[in-house]
Amino acid sequence: MEIKRTKIVDIFNPELVGEHVCVKGWVRTRRGNKHVQFVALNDGSTIKNLQIVFDLQKFTEEQLRPINTGSSLHVEGTLVASQGKGQTVEIQAETVEIYGTADPETYPLQKKGHTLEFLREKAHLRMRTNTFGAVFRIRHHLAFAIHKFFNDRGFFYLHTPLITASDCEGAGDMFQVTTLNLGDLPKNEDGTTDYSQDFFGKSTSLTVSGQLEGELGATALGAIYTFGPTFRAENSNTPRHLAEFWMIEPEVAFNDITDNMDLAEDFIKYCVKYALDHCRDDIDFLCQMYDNSLIERLESVLREPFVRLTYTEGIEILSQAKKKFEFPVSWGVDLQSEHERYLVEEHFRRPVILTDYPREIKAFYMKQNDDGRTVRAMDVLFPQIGEIIGGSEREENYDKLIAEIERRKIPMKDMWWYLETRRFGTVPHAGFGLGFERLILFVTGMANIRDVIPFPRTPNNAEF
Ligand code: 4AD
Ligand code: MG
Repeated sequence: MEIKRTKIVDIFNPELVGEHVCVKGWVRTRRGNKHVQFVALNDGSTIKNLQIVFDLQKFTEEQLRPINTGSSLHVEGTLVASQGKGQTVEIQAETVEIYGTADPETYPLQKKGHTLEFLREKAHLRMRTNTFGAVFRIRHHLAFAIHKFFNDRGFFYLHTPLITASDCEGAGDMFQVTTLNLGDLPKNEDGTTDYSQDFFGKSTSLTVSGQLEGELGATALGAIYTFGPTFRAENSNTPRHLAEFWMIEPEVAFNDITDNMDLAEDFIKYCVKYALDHCRDDIDFLCQMYDNSLIERLESVLREPFVRLTYTEGIEILSQAKKKFEFPVSWGVDLQSEHERYLVEEHFRRPVILTDYPREIKAFYMKQNDDGRTVRAMDVLFPQIGEIIGGSEREENYDKLIAEIERRKIPMKDMWWYLETRRFGTVPHAGFGLGFERLILFVTGMANIRDVIPFPRTPNNAEF
């Protein structure tokens, strides 16, 4: 009778030594001689491989021949303390069943040491490598940490729609959703498309943010968060942008900008600490392989408070910097990643929260300051990443919000439901959005956002 399978993550347990065990997984390497063969087996539950020892007095060469890199096995045998370096236990195999072979001539991961670029072309298999196994285990633990953080603090997880008729950020980078026949569009008399014949009877798109609906939740349930995919058709081929990315958006009634900053700082620190506490083997591996300052960087974020200063103060520092920037700095410009990274990596050497940005470069919903030219925005800027969080206190005054919507010529008919939060029992409130993949970039030390989401969506890339 087949005995119950033990996951490899659970097998490095001295109490199991001497037991008859069953493991299943994929072969990473095989080596050996005429007397004994060693197979490194991985089942994805941990970065660690388990060594399987095949004594050739018990197995024929014939039997072991199909066991190549990439093949899949079911092995039973005795768990013993290991003599070899690099592992504490190994299995002396007694039986082996080969589930599937992997032809060494055609298996793409036959060799070690492929570049990350090569592996992006093999996104359907790259999770079987040490690097991507580590990254996606960390991604899971961070997602779990995020739910735990908010749940423990009494926030409710709100599911906001992915298909929407409103444009939250007003940036115009939306993917349209339609069932109309693009080859034969119904027209109005003035030549524009007749969306009344479309599925929803109006023009719709994929959401760029769940915030507006999140505000409806916060002004009813008190404190909510969203955690879902968002879509932006911005054609920016950078190592920090995706067309489909995941965002976490907490929104809290009665919070002001300072509460919002405190929440953002606690939240990020919690996530980083959670990863250090729960993903240590994977982080150690990435630290050794790619970036030996990774752990120090993660720990340093936990040690010190984030610097808080206004955009205006930030611009002053940047204009006095000796560094030559590609994009010149003056009051009113939107900060580029080179500016953000200068403040964080060179000037302060700590994460920075910049507040009170010019009204003209931020979204319509942000609370206006009394100076008439800035809004109560906040961006959290991180080493290696630049902007990791964007948020604000919201304009809760109905008249001011209407005036801003009119000034920006945002179609009011699409916004009536949002405006009712300000007509009926309006309250001060604030929230922010954390880019999930940017957090994972920071925690893993990976350099390209395409390497921290299983199947990246970027311009000209939707293969897998
Ligand atoms: O600063 P953003 O555009 O803010 C909002 O969408 C607000 N509605 C959030 C809120 O207040 N509830 O985006 C928030 C974060 C950014 O700081 C960044 O980390 C991430 O989302 N982000 C992206 N991540 C990957 N690819 C992209 N194209 C991204 N655009 C934004
Ligand atoms: Mg932003």
